[in-house]
Amino acid sequence: MEPATTVDWQALEAAAVAAMQNAYAPYSKFPVGAAALTGDGRIVSGCNVENASYGLTLCAECALVGNLHMTGGGLLRAFYCVDGSGNILMPCGRCRQLLYEFRAPGMELMTTQGIKTMDQVLPDAFGPEHLEETR
Ligand code: THU
Repeated sequence: MEPATTVDWQALEAAAVAAMQNAYAPYSKFPVGAAALTGDGRIVSGCNVENASYGLTLCAECALVGNLHMTGGGLLRAFYCVDGSGNILMPCGRCRQLLYEFRAPGMELMTTQGIKTMDQVLPDAFGPEHLEETR
């Protein structure tokens, strides 16, 4: 199914930068902001939240998917992530998996190599459909 409207990448970038400004990153000093467009036209976002127990750090994408569900759920059509300078940041491997779970068909991500699909940044992914196969 074709998306109803085109993606406003500039609006997503602005939302990601605004989210990044809320980051709690006293340990890495590497603030991150992420924003995404939902299937029904909302913009959801998140920032990274670190912890004195370093391994408990929440990536910006964790907050984003929480925000997705807190504001009505749905699926992600387009995604943009920035570092503390506002430069495009590739989501880490774990966060690619988080995003994959909530991807709309044909979901796009702004990457350092231009716009790519979810399937390009996480090929051969494990997903909910694999759980069904073994039941
Ligand atoms: N980080 C994210 O928030 N998202 C990513 O996809 C990559 C890494 C955060 C985690 C940590 O707070 C900081 O960046 C440095 O790794």
